[in-house]
Amino acid sequence: MKKNIVLIGFMGTGKSSLGRQLARRLGYRFVDTDSAIEEVTGKTVEQIFRRDGEIRFRSEENLLAQKLAGQSGLVIATGGGMVLNQENVELLKQNGVLIKLWAEPEVLLQRVKSKKRRPLLRRGDLRENVLRLLQERDGYYDVAEFTVDTGKLSFGEAINEMYRYIKKKGYLQ
Ligand code: S3P
Repeated sequence: MKKNIVLIGFMGTGKSSLGRQLARRLGYRFVDTDSAIEEVTGKTVEQIFRRDGEIRFRSEENLLAQKLAGQSGLVIATGGGMVLNQENVELLKQNGVLIKLWAEPEVLLQRVKSKKRRPLLRRGDLRENVLRLLQERDGYYDVAEFTVDTGKLSFGEAINEMYRYIKKKGYLQ
């Protein structure tokens, strides 16, 4: 069974854009968990946070992780909070290779300026929010078996790094 390639990491590390391109390269289907949740609920991430609360959003993430664990041949771009729940990590690992995307805080700050889909960054000072969340989440993204620094690499190089790793490990069938 083809393994899923699961991209994890903080907001702004490039999970969605790189994931979409990686899926093309591999000929895999691409799933963005935020988009999938929006489809299932008929609400935007922003609306779910505002109307139903973060807990509801996290439970949608968990339901989706359960569903995706049983599928194969996917590139999955997760929301930045997906791996805060250990159960989601276990589920996504069942048939998935976890790859961590990472970048220096200054790079992330430039990238997360668009707050669409990022209600956690909406209120207060952006820099403070990003630095606080990075600190609170220290270690959570280290459940991956491979890390790519998307701040130092070009888009194409980051794709190549992931592709090479997946191939070298024999995950391509
Ligand atoms: C979140 C990250 C967002 C989205 C939601 C919560 C987080 O996804 O799932 O706003 O807790 O880090 P991206 O990482 O794609 O921005």
